[in-house]
Amino acid sequence: MKATTQVAIIGAGPAGLFLGHLLGLEGIDSIIVENRSREYVEHRVRAGVLEQGTVDLMVQTGVADRLQREGLVHHGIELRFNGVGHRIPLSDLAGGRSITIYGQQEVVKDLIAARLAGGRDIRFEVEDVQLSGIAGKRPSIRFAEAASATTVDCDFIAGCDGFHGIARGAIPDGVLSHYDYDFPFAWLGILAAVAPSANELVYARHERGFALHSLRSPTVSRLYLQVDPGTEVSDWPDDRIWEELRVRLATRDGWVLRDGPVIEKNVAAMRSFVVEPMQFGRLFLAGDAAHIVPATGAKGLNLAVADVYVLARAIAAWYRTGSSTLLDAYSETCLKRVWRAQEFSNYMSAMLHRYPGTDPFRDRLQVARLEAVSTGEEAARALATNYVGLPLP
Ligand code: FAD
Ligand code: PHB
Repeated sequence: MKATTQVAIIGAGPAGLFLGHLLGLEGIDSIIVENRSREYVEHRVRAGVLEQGTVDLMVQTGVADRLQREGLVHHGIELRFNGVGHRIPLSDLAGGRSITIYGQQEVVKDLIAARLAGGRDIRFEVEDVQLSGIAGKRPSIRFAEAASATTVDCDFIAGCDGFHGIARGAIPDGVLSHYDYDFPFAWLGILAAVAPSANELVYARHERGFALHSLRSPTVSRLYLQVDPGTEVSDWPDDRIWEELRVRLATRDGWVLRDGPVIEKNVAAMRSFVVEPMQFGRLFLAGDAAHIVPATGAKGLNLAVADVYVLARAIAAWYRTGSSTLLDAYSETCLKRVWRAQEFSNYMSAMLHRYPGTDPFRDRLQVARLEAVSTGEEAARALATNYVGLPLP
């Protein structure tokens, strides 16, 4: 089968779905092809913190009805170390900006619903997606669906297929520079059917490793433990997880962690990764396909949204005026934000995690940094400004 569209989007994660949505508002036609099922992508538990700019964009583009009803607006976070909690008043320090707790899979559900309601093309469970002609003016994608092959000719291809996707690999050897760093730890995350034990997120540094108390709703908690890379979920029965969380999150004044049934459990590697540039010919990479940040800064999903916001505007300008100025500047525009987020996420990670081997010197530095943030207005302001997110370009 043969088809045509203006923009072919690979991947129905936040980047691909948001791009399709923004292009649709500009009257630009697209197809989204996704290799997983709708059910799968709508239930993949990942991020939970939306920056102010992400929320504003969802509101401005008409996909925030449920977000505004169910999202939990937070004005602060807690840093906990040496058994004492220190609240960072994000909104006071960052000009009134805040974060909203709303699961990534809820964003994905809302964007898929909007796309289907608008009658726009989205294909799930496609196989063997291939790109061709990206160096020319009329690229195409090809994929298999229900045993038949489809080729879609287009003007642009957006590689929104995540870190393990195939789009990045279509760029000829020698074009991309890769920058990466694997942290010597991973995160074990659980979703639990229990009311959160704290009203705001708690980032805890402990001699046994980092722990994070987050949430999804008034009845669902999300918690993370630093674990060794290569850890299997089966190494951590539920009781062991709760016990460890209790130790790492304990305070001197007897804070109590509520436990409950574990609904979901996964292990995620912590890594930093960037490719430069994020484009080649008519192929543009966005989101995790181009960069990964360690989850400590809660930036990955928000960076994906920022990328496609820049890309949608650049593509719209091309159709409107024929000028490729914004498209040519796409990588440079995005990479500034990407590297700032990378720096911030590394700063948060280095401050809060236990590194392998005992290193009393590093321990002291970590505590000094935490104290600077907890008691010094300048350091706190810098953290707050980065955490709530920079305005979109
Ligand atoms: P993805 O969400 O990975 O989407 C890519 C899509 O492409 C997927 O649906 C995939 O199935 C599809 N795909 C892949 N290969 C192909 C192919 N060959 N053909 C077709 N489709 C394909 N970020 C935050 O901002 N805040 C947080 O609090 C946060 N917490 C996190 C916690 C954890 C445990 C993890 C793992 C991540 C967290 N992140 C967080 C990061 C965030 O989840 C990612 O940055 C985000 O998912 C990136 O979106 P994306 O659309 O670029 O990629
Ligand atoms: C989450 O709620 O999943 C979450 C919160 C903060 C982070 C990472 C993940 O830094």
